[in-house]
Amino acid sequence: MGNPEFYHTTVLLHEAVDGLAIKPDGVYVDATFGGGGHSRLILEKLGPKGKLIAFDQDADAWRNKPDDDRLIPVTENFKYMRRFLRLHGHSEVDGILADLGVSSFQFDTAERGFSIRYDGPLDMRMDKRSEVTAATVLRTYSEQQLHTIFEQYGEVRNSKQLAKHIVDQRKGTGLQTISSFKAMLGPVMRGNPNKYLAQVFQALRIEVNDELGALKELLQQSALSLKPGGRLSVISFHSLEDRLVKHYIKRGRWDEAGEYEEPVKPLMRPITAKPIEPAEEEQKNNPRSRSARLRVGERIAE
Ligand SMILES: C[S@@+](CC[C@H](N)C(=O)[O-])C[C@H]1O[C@@H](n2cnc3c(N)ncnc32)[C@H](O)[C@@H]1O
Repeated sequence: MGNPEFYHTTVLLHEAVDGLAIKPDGVYVDATFGGGGHSRLILEKLGPKGKLIAFDQDADAWRNKPDDDRLIPVTENFKYMRRFLRLHGHSEVDGILADLGVSSFQFDTAERGFSIRYDGPLDMRMDKRSEVTAATVLRTYSEQQLHTIFEQYGEVRNSKQLAKHIVDQRKGTGLQTISSFKAMLGPVMRGNPNKYLAQVFQALRIEVNDELGALKELLQQSALSLKPGGRLSVISFHSLEDRLVKHYIKRGRWDEAGEYEEPVKPLMRPITAKPIEPAEEEQKNNPRSRSARLRVGERIAE
């Protein structure tokens, strides 16, 4: 376990909060509270009448909660954002920020099972109340399903062979812990072992937490929850996420097949023509920030 005092180094702090163009009396959402870095800066910019509704599906995040009456914490998946905004009497908001993925705290806590650097259970759930762990995925998914997630979410180069190997071996003891899983993968690993394992773990994490499904829900609900002129500021860490954000911010709708709807008048317009990346200094000080991409959109009147 890492330093217990340290929770998370905020990525693109000023850029993401500036993207919200905060009005002091406004109502804002931080969909991913984590260590509360973005939330604290939003609270600094809000006046006494402002409100911040913060979501995190991991109850551990609230150990960082500032003592502030303007903050409403919600321990739920952000895919239910609209429902909880209504419940708290704020169906329309002035801005929504999301900083996707896991926190350093989650990553560095061995028992959570996110990191290849420690031994621990094959867990990887951000929400400890949910039932599906990485071990469940590895034990119950078909070879084809495993192949697809390793290929799409991890870009693992021999994902077909990896999926077959797991299905052949999974009745043994390989799925008991992270170290036994790593040992089990030995014969199929290709290239740099740490890079290979990081890709496998990333794929499992995205699946266990249905990260792309939750992001789609969040985006879809954003245009419906923002007032005209309201801002959406999203930091993603993976090209599949960034693609969803980019297309959504251009139009603000999907069609029924989950594709981007063309002919209807858009609900959002991009504020950032290109994604904002962390400055060199930030990338040097916080290597995790290297893959971060920020996009900002604005809700337009219908
Ligand atoms: C990268 S951290 C956020 C860090 C935060 N912006 C800061 O400055 O400290 C992401 C956080 O979002 C939470 N999270 C990720 N996906 C979520 C979801 N679908 N619903 C609710 N919380 C989620 C994770 O539990 C984690 O604590």
